[in-house]
Amino acid sequence: MGPEIVREAQQMQRLATRHRRKGRRIAVVPTMGALHEGHRALIREGRRRSDVLVVTIFVNPAQFAPHEDLARYPRTFDADLSMCRDEGVDFVFAPSDETMYPPGYGTYVTVEDLSKGLCGKSRPTHFRGVATVVTKLFLLTQPDAAIFGWKDAQQLVIIRRMARDLHIPVEIVPVETVRDADGLALSSRNKYLSPEERAEAPVLCRSLQNARMLIEKEDIRDTAVLRRAITGQIERESKGRIDYVEIVSLQTLEPLAQIARDNTLIALACYWGSTRLIDNIRV
Ligand code: PAJ
Repeated sequence: MGPEIVREAQQMQRLATRHRRKGRRIAVVPTMGALHEGHRALIREGRRRSDVLVVTIFVNPAQFAPHEDLARYPRTFDADLSMCRDEGVDFVFAPSDETMYPPGYGTYVTVEDLSKGLCGKSRPTHFRGVATVVTKLFLLTQPDAAIFGWKDAQQLVIIRRMARDLHIPVEIVPVETVRDADGLALSSRNKYLSPEERAEAPVLCRSLQNARMLIEKEDIRDTAVLRRAITGQIERESKGRIDYVEIVSLQTLEPLAQIARDNTLIALACYWGSTRLIDNIRV
């Protein structure tokens, strides 16, 4: 017996309400499908923390700009479902665009300052789309816990702030980034890379690990020096085009002049052709 597939928003909400009334603990794992081992780690964390586990699969149009990859975003529903079955997921909520954004839809959630820097610079409407859909998914699935990956660190920080600001009674649970053997962070977008690009992409992780080494072994704290080391390595060892390399506070996502131990996010984004990959570490 696999998970129950739910397509309608109101049906999802009715099911969640029913389970809540019975005192069951609900966890949700929001995804856009094309599930990989990173998603599996989130699903397992959700399973450990819940009686009722909901995985949502929805390629959210509101978080893609018109020139981005909405139409070609990978869709692998059958394989996604079989992973959910293997991991003991109770419900897969896979709504249509029309259910989530019916004609006349007009309400959006914006987390102001945190959405402007890092990925927000090149994707100015992205986090409004994310915050909006995640709010809707929370209202529909009524979770006690929601699981998110550090892979998308800015997203995680934004969702945490949003839940706090809007008094949404949900615990936001982070999970470490899952990587391939060569260090590349798993991403549904890795499928877009040519073999040559795939061979170059682990430079992102290597450059971040090297920065960690400079901080921990050589006590370098000047973020300008560290940023130069990271960009230099990416430029030397690949044909990737850097979008940004930023060293920011984990609380405010504001740039730091000096590393603040245990409160610093080093995040980057880089293009190979039109494929944009992100990675980050916390120090
Ligand atoms: P998606 O890219 O499918 O990611 C779903 C969740 O999986 C996110 O919390 C993301 O951080 C996490 N994830 C992705 N790759 C990971 C990896 N290698 N290791 C650990 N976790 C990983 O993020 C989204 O979808 C959407 O923006 C969403 C939150 C569903 C809203 O539409």
